[in-house]
Order: sequence, then C-alpha cells, then structure tokens
Amino acid sequence: MRKLFSPIVLIGALLSACSNPVPANQDGTELWLAAGRPYQEVLASVETAIDPALPAEGYHIYDADGVRHVDAGSAGGLRYGVYALQRAEVLGQAGKGMDVQEKPFYDLRLLNHWDNLDDTVERGYAGKSMWEWTSPEIPEARIRHYGELCASIGLNGAVLNNVNSNPLMLDSEHIDRVRQIADILREYGIRAYIAIKWTSPIALDGLTSGDPLNPTVRQWWKDKAAEIYAAIPDFGGFLVKANSEGQAGPQDYGRTHADGANMLAEALAPYGGIVMWRAFVYAPESPDRANQAVEEFLPLDGDFADNVIVQIKNGPVDFQPREPFSPLFGQLKKTRMMMEFQITQEYLGFSNHVAYHGTTWEECLQSDTYRDGEGSFVANMVSAIAGVANTGQDPNFCGYVLAQANWYAFGRLAWNPYLSAEEIADEWIRQTFLVPDGMSAGAFTTKFVNPLRGLLMASREAVVDYEMPLGLHHLFGGTHYGPIPWDRMPPRPDWQPRYYHQADSAGIGFDRTATGSNNVSQYNEPLASTFAHLETCPENLLLWFHHLPWDYQMASGRTLWDEICLHYDAGIGAVEDFRALWESLQPYVSPILYEEVSTKLLIQRNDAEWWRDACVGYFQKLNGLPLPADVRPLRIPVDTLMVKLLRSDQLGMPVFDDEYRVVLDRMRPFRRRQ
Ligand code: GCU
Repeated sequence: MRKLFSPIVLIGALLSACSNPVPANQDGTELWLAAGRPYQEVLASVETAIDPALPAEGYHIYDADGVRHVDAGSAGGLRYGVYALQRAEVLGQAGKGMDVQEKPFYDLRLLNHWDNLDDTVERGYAGKSMWEWTSPEIPEARIRHYGELCASIGLNGAVLNNVNSNPLMLDSEHIDRVRQIADILREYGIRAYIAIKWTSPIALDGLTSGDPLNPTVRQWWKDKAAEIYAAIPDFGGFLVKANSEGQAGPQDYGRTHADGANMLAEALAPYGGIVMWRAFVYAPESPDRANQAVEEFLPLDGDFADNVIVQIKNGPVDFQPREPFSPLFGQLKKTRMMMEFQITQEYLGFSNHVAYHGTTWEECLQSDTYRDGEGSFVANMVSAIAGVANTGQDPNFCGYVLAQANWYAFGRLAWNPYLSAEEIADEWIRQTFLVPDGMSAGAFTTKFVNPLRGLLMASREAVVDYEMPLGLHHLFGGTHYGPIPWDRMPPRPDWQPRYYHQADSAGIGFDRTATGSNNVSQYNEPLASTFAHLETCPENLLLWFHHLPWDYQMASGRTLWDEICLHYDAGIGAVEDFRALWESLQPYVSPILYEEVSTKLLIQRNDAEWWRDACVGYFQKLNGLPLPADVRPLRIPVDTLMVKLLRSDQLGMPVFDDEYRVVLDRMRPFRRRQ
C-alpha cells in the first residue's frame, strides 16, 4: 500500500497543528449548549426509568451491568438528569462508574422577563422582547431554544412580562398568547407566570375600586383566575409590584400588602397557583430607602397566605454593583421569601461590560443573617429564587457571549446555591467555547479556560472599583449607564446620587449607624455591631454604612480620599489587564467572538475612565484635594462632564463614537439651569 505521509511529514504536521490550533467557527448563538452532544443523542444513549422513590425533580445517573442509567422522580427530573449527563461529558466527569444523584435546592427557579407588550424590554440590553408580543405569530423556534437552555440548567418557570405591567396582559387576547407560549415551555418543564397590574379590574372592566377587601374586586380576580386556568391548566401564578415607584396597590385603599397578596392568593389557590409579592417598595419621604422594606414588611410577618411568597431584591436598595444583603432576609420568620437577583446588567454597564455575577450572588447567598443563630445563610432563608433576565431578540440572546455566563450562573445557583462561582464559571467556559482543532483538552484548559475563568472571576470587582468602590452606591443618573454623582434632576430625593454619597467638602458616605438612619439595627447581632463599628465594618461596605472625613485613615495607612482614587484607578487597570489577557486568547476563539469581546472590552475601558473622571473629578471639586501620586491623571475635566448628558438610541443603549467612547451631548439651556 502506498504511504500517504512519511513519519517525518506526519510528526511535522502534528507539531504544527499543536502550535497552530484552529479555532472552531463559533458565533455564540448556541450558548452553553455548544460543546455537548445533542440532548436527543444523550437521551438515546442511556436507559431511563421513572422511580417514584426519587424526589420529583431529582435524578440518579449511574452505571449498572455495563449500561448507563438515568432514573428520575418524574419526566422533568429525567430531563434534568440527561442534561446533567451532557454537561458531565463535556467536563470530563462522565467516566465509567459515574454515580451522581441530585435534586434542586429550591422548588421555584424562575426568570423574570421585564418585557413590555410593545416589545421593548425594561432594562433589556439584547434587543427587543424575545416573545415578540406585537408579531402575529409567536417565535416558536426561539422559544424552543430558550426552553432547552433553561431546562439544561434546571430553571422551571418564567414570568413573561414586566413587573411594571400593562393591564392588557390579562385581556383574552393576551391570555391566549400566553397559552401559546406556555404550551411550548411546558415541553421543557417551564411554567408560565404573569406580572399583573393592580388596577387591571378598573382598566379592563370599569370597576370603580381596587380595594382588596371589596367583594366585587375579589370576584373579578377569581373570575380572571378561572379564565386563565381554563386556558393554561398549569399556569404558575402572579408576580406583583404594588405600591412601589408609583404603581398602585392595596395601600391606596388603606389596606396592607398582606391584604392585597391574600386576595390574589385566594383567587389562585383552587388551582395551585402562587403569588410572588415584591418587597421592592419605598416611599420618598422616608429618611433611608434601605430601611423601608423591613419597615413595611416586618409588621406583616405571619399575615400572608400559604401560597404567597415575598420576593426580595438581594440588596436593600437596587441591584447596585455591591450592596450588603437585604436585612429583610434576616427578619421575616413566618413568611416564605424568594430571592430576586438581576441578571441583566442595569447598573453594571449593560451588555457592554464584563461583569460575571456568579461572585455577586455567591457573596449574597452565602452571607450569614444570624436569624436562627450562626449559619443562617441567606440561601437557606429563602425558599425560592428569581432572576431578572438578560434575554432579548439578539441571536445570542444576551447581547454578547460573556453576558451569557450570568444566565447560566443564575440557573446553576438556583439549582444549588452553594455551588462556587468559580466552578460555575469553569463549567460555563468549557460548554460554551469549543476546543480548537489541533489542541489537546489539557492545553485548552491551561491556555484558555483557566485565564478566561480568572478574568470572569475578577470582573465584578473591577466594575465595583471603577464605578462605586468602598460601599459607594447609586451614583447613576438617566439610563443607569453612566456616572452623574452631581445629578439633581430626578424628582425624588432618593433617586438622586447625592442622597446616597452625601459628599461635601468634609467627607463622604451614608451614615447608617445609630447616629444616622440606624439601618444597621435591622441586621441581627453580631452583624449589626460588625457593620456599626469602623474597626469591624468590611472595607468594601465602609461608605454604605458610614459617613467619614476625607482624611479618615484606612487599614492600608492611606487616607480615605487616596483609597477612593486608588480603587477607581485599579478598576481601569483591571480592565486594561482583561484586554491584554483577551488578546492572548485570540488563537483559541473564532474571529467573530474575538472581535465581539475585544470591542466590548474597549468600551469598558473607556467607560471605566469616564466613571473615574466623573466621580473622582466631582469629589475632588468638593474637597479640593490632590490626587495621590501613583494614579493615572484624569482625562476629561469634570466641569466639562457636568454640562453634558449621555446620548442614547431608541432602545436606551448608549451611542459611541469611532473610538468606542460614549457620545456626550451638551445639555440644553433649560436643563443647565436646574
Ligand atoms: C429599578 C429599575 C426599574 C424597575 C424597578 C423594579 O428601579 O430601574 O426599571 O422597574 O427597579 O424592580 O421594579
């Protein structure tokens, strides 16, 4: 037989293949299902059985008699088992003798879609609504893809519309639309839920009241529940934003949150439906917005019906890059609680900045509330979990590839809140990015997976550093993209950054100790004292809990002012490092993904400088202090920034110039006067 290649040619070819890996041709539209075998193929390769002795959503993967088995408590559990096996195969954990038994930690693992009926998405940065409410047909292929992605990470519910709901969501046309979507999602083990508007009976049927104790109102909701369940027998229930940010609610009729929630709960109970009642409530007149959820909900502890869950944002203010956990988690004892995380990056650079939230959520879930003594972790205080989705019509669902990691991480933590953020990042990378041709799995791990994992793990802290370090928070204005620490335009004081930073010529920070709003007292001991005392307050929350002079001595021996400047500078430096690291990964990723991430990192670097210029520049204007010697100089004078506003497109996304710097327009005279 004629030899095709001599041994020398072969060795040469192999060597050159090793030194020149050929990246797979990927565009990010397969998300984390890219590397695994197709679901049907994995399913066909195993013996399956329903074992009623297993938990309903649980599964058992094992080998017996030379055959791989997946047993589960239900069809849904089986699906999770097959996806778990698919993942294990990619991770190299599916070898002979595999024996893994799992069940989800929480029964309710939901995405909340803030999608509007006109197809805009509130705080959405990946295009218009993925449900395409305004199209004649539902986008079946996309919904199926979404179903697979959710099922593969164990999510089992989706609230389809915005918490700032539209009453039309409950008219017969939209109930039918939800039915069509629910019919598809059901195949993937996902229940559909609706966010309702409190005033729906008034808007849809001309009722004159929304009083939850009024029999006509109660009957309206019962009839509506009957109508929904006739169409969607496994409908999940309602998510409610009431008496919050201008939304109407039971308090408008002199009733409590519990009265309101219980009325809806009664309507849904016959069908097994639930009410998720949000605790994101705050009144403009209260002296500290961070106190208000506890003030409003603690007196109602024990008053909620069994099928009501109070849904609480992770922090007491609003999804800031870093907040302490909401004190409500440590206060309610007789009320079911649900975590609300935000996957979409409303305050962390939209879909333009790398900000891996695995670390944010791990930090929260594994915080000790001390509610029932030491070890009362937030993860155990809540019995359900929701994440505000970062999905849209973009073919990659999330705006760009690295933002997909947050959807994945949310699902994995909803399945098991004690998984480590690092482990999850590792899993996500290996499933999302294909090993280049000519590269061994080991080399891929060393040269690509490990560095990228390091980047993701460092990313959220970098955002904290260049946006709001040391416990600073809510220095935003307008669209929540950029810094406006000087902003006085929002009509409510608690929408103005100055309410939060309280900076003047003498110092900075929000005093939440006993001499201030006493928010610390809403935490259980020993945490209350830990936060209250300067010696024990974690430095990364210092200005959340304390108002301090600029020359306050930090643990480093530097002044507070110097430390603030150093953090902003470090944030920029971190993004520079991410850019260099990503450049070194170019040989292993497709040109499409390489360019996509490179562009985002360039935007992020430029935005980090903008944040530094605005915040450091503004604080310096107040305190007149020089920058420490070892930081980069400011780029744009703050006086220039203070008369400009970010230009945004129709979907609220920032507009950039040719160098990927934000376009800032001069404010019109009427705005300058304010
Ligand atoms: C934030 C966000 C709003 C949203 C609100 C909520 O304030 O900016 O867009 O409606 O949270 O969670 O209800």
